Amino acid sequence: MTILSWVTMVVMAQSAGDVIRLPRPDTAGGATLAMSLASRRSVRSFGEEPLTVAQIGQLLWAAQGMTDAVKGLRTAPSSGALYPLETFVVLPEGAYRYNPQHHELSLKIQGDLRHALQKAALNQRAVGDAPAVVVFAAVYERVAVKYKGRATRYVDMEAGHACQNLLLQAAALKLGAVPVGAFHDDRIGELLKLPKEASPLYLVPVGYPKR
Ligand SMILES: Cc1cc2nc3c(=O)[nH]c(=O)nc-3n(C[C@H](O)[C@H](O)[C@H](O)COP(=O)(O)O)c2cc1C
Repeated sequence: MTILSWVTMVVMAQSAGDVIRLPRPDTAGGATLAMSLASRRSVRSFGEEPLTVAQIGQLLWAAQGMTDAVKGLRTAPSSGALYPLETFVVLPEGAYRYNPQHHELSLKIQGDLRHALQKAALNQRAVGDAPAVVVFAAVYERVAVKYKGRATRYVDMEAGHACQNLLLQAAALKLGAVPVGAFHDDRIGELLKLPKEASPLYLVPVGYPKR
């Protein structure tokens, strides 16, 4: 089932012009919040089993998914609802940008960047070994236009909100994850071809905890 889902994802990516429409997220079931809080632990060793498209979609939705399509509001709070975060997921096939509005991925870079990301993250093996690495980057200027000198702290706080949502969703799915803040910003920016106004803030390797 897992492999089938993965193959389906790859085929969809080729046939749909580099865009993968993610399955509708589960907004009703799953582990309780208290269970997820109690079980969340940083995990740095992963099995090789890939994540399904549904798992990837659920994780990204938890981090930055849209929960009010009329007002354009998301799962995580945002100062002034200005949404400075850009979210990417790095998979063996390539690096994808998450589009919260349409709950879809668009292929940004083909090929496996995980080991290059590992090197840029002080050679932390969790980054290279995980089947998926979520990357949060921020465009501070989106918030600075309104909040001036408070923008840096607001954006950094927001990244924490989004990242914690992701970590708790991973725990609820019985997946492991770790928030990684130690990396060379410029090298991550080059690898993901981030525009110069976008700063990488967090790498979050996610996968099945190694037994
Ligand atoms: C801002 C921030 C940066 C972090 N950076 C890293 C990192 O680069 N590498 C890593 O292995 N863990 C990193 N961590 C995870 C912490 O080491 C971990 O949360 C801490 O040891 C407590 O363990 P727990 O998460 O299992 O509760 C980071 C955590 C935070 C909040």
